[in-house]
Amino acid sequence: MSGVSLSVVSSSVTVRAPAKVNLHLGVGPLRKDGYHDLITVFQALSLYDDITVRQDPELSVHTRGDGAASVADDHTNLAYRAAVVLAEWANRAAGLSIDIDKSIPVAGGMAGGSADAAGALVAVAELWRLDIDRAELSALAAGLGSDVPFGLHGGTALGTGRGEQLVPVLSRGEFHWVLALADGGLSTPTVFAELDRLRENRAAADTPSGDPARPDRLLAALASGDPHAVAPLLHNDLQPAALGLKPALRRTLRAGLETGALGGIVSGSGPTCAFLCADHDSAVAVAAELAGAGVARGVRVASGPVPGAKVIDHG
Ligand code: C5P
Repeated sequence: MSGVSLSVVSSSVTVRAPAKVNLHLGVGPLRKDGYHDLITVFQALSLYDDITVRQDPELSVHTRGDGAASVADDHTNLAYRAAVVLAEWANRAAGLSIDIDKSIPVAGGMAGGSADAAGALVAVAELWRLDIDRAELSALAAGLGSDVPFGLHGGTALGTGRGEQLVPVLSRGEFHWVLALADGGLSTPTVFAELDRLRENRAAADTPSGDPARPDRLLAALASGDPHAVAPLLHNDLQPAALGLKPALRRTLRAGLETGALGGIVSGSGPTCAFLCADHDSAVAVAAELAGAGVARGVRVASGPVPGAKVIDHG
C-alpha cells in the first residue's frame, strides 16, 4: 500500500492538570510593574482539574465541580484566554468549547486557574496537532500568569522571576500531604498587597523585605527524600499576610500540627493549608482528625511530586 495516509483526528482531548503547593515562597520587594521577585519551590500534587476541549463554532468555557459557581465562565477565565493566545499563535479561529471539571479549590492558593490554563494549552495544542515545542508553550503560559508555566512543568521545581522561570529540583520519593480547604477564597493580589502593607508598617518582624535567598537547606532535604528533614524548612513569606486577612487559619494550622503532621503551611497566597505527613497512613489519620475538628470546609489527601498537565483521553 502506498500513498494512503490514515490520520486519526480526535473530536475531543482531555488533559489532567495538577495543583501546586509552595514548599518555600520567598517574596522580594514590590517591583515597578506591580509584581514581586520570587524565589519559590513548587511541588505538583495529586489533586487535579480535568480540561476537555472540542471544536465548536464559538469559543466558550463551562466549569463544573468544586467551587464552579464562583468561577467566571467568560473571556476572563484563564483557560479561555489560553485558547485565545494559542489560536493567535497558530493563526486560526479559536472555535472551541472548553469543559473544566474542578477538584482544585478555587482561589485557594493552589494555582487552580493556572492549572486550567496549562491544561487548555496542552489540550488545544493536541486537538489541533500544533507543532509547538515546550519552550514556546511555556512562553505563552508565562504571558497568561506567573504560575501557568509550572502547571505545564509539574514535578518539583525552583521558580524565580515572577515564579515563571523554572528549573527542576531533585526530589527523591513521594511526599504525603493533607490539604485543609477553607471557606471562601483569597485574592492573590490582595495577599501580596497585604504583605507590602505589613512590611511598610514593619508590623511583622517575620516578614523581612530584602531580596529572597535560595533555600539551599530545603533543596538538600528534598534530595534526601526525608519528610522529617523537609517539614521544618517549609516557609512562606505570604503566610503572615494570609493569616492577617483570615485569622481563622491560625486554628487550622495549629490543629494540623496537633494531629500529628510534621509541618504545616499556608499554600501560596492561601487560604488552603498544606500539612506534610510522614507517610500515606499518617496523612489519612491527620485528614480524618482534621475533618472531625471542624477547622476546615473539607480535607484532601494528596501526594507529590506528580507530572504537569498531560493528555489522559482522546474522544
Ligand atoms: O501572574 P498572575 O496574573 O498570576 O499574578 C496575579 C497577581 O499576583 C499580580 O497582579 C500581582 O498582584 C501578584 N503577584 C505578584 N508577584 C508575583 C506574582 C503575582 O505581586 N511574582
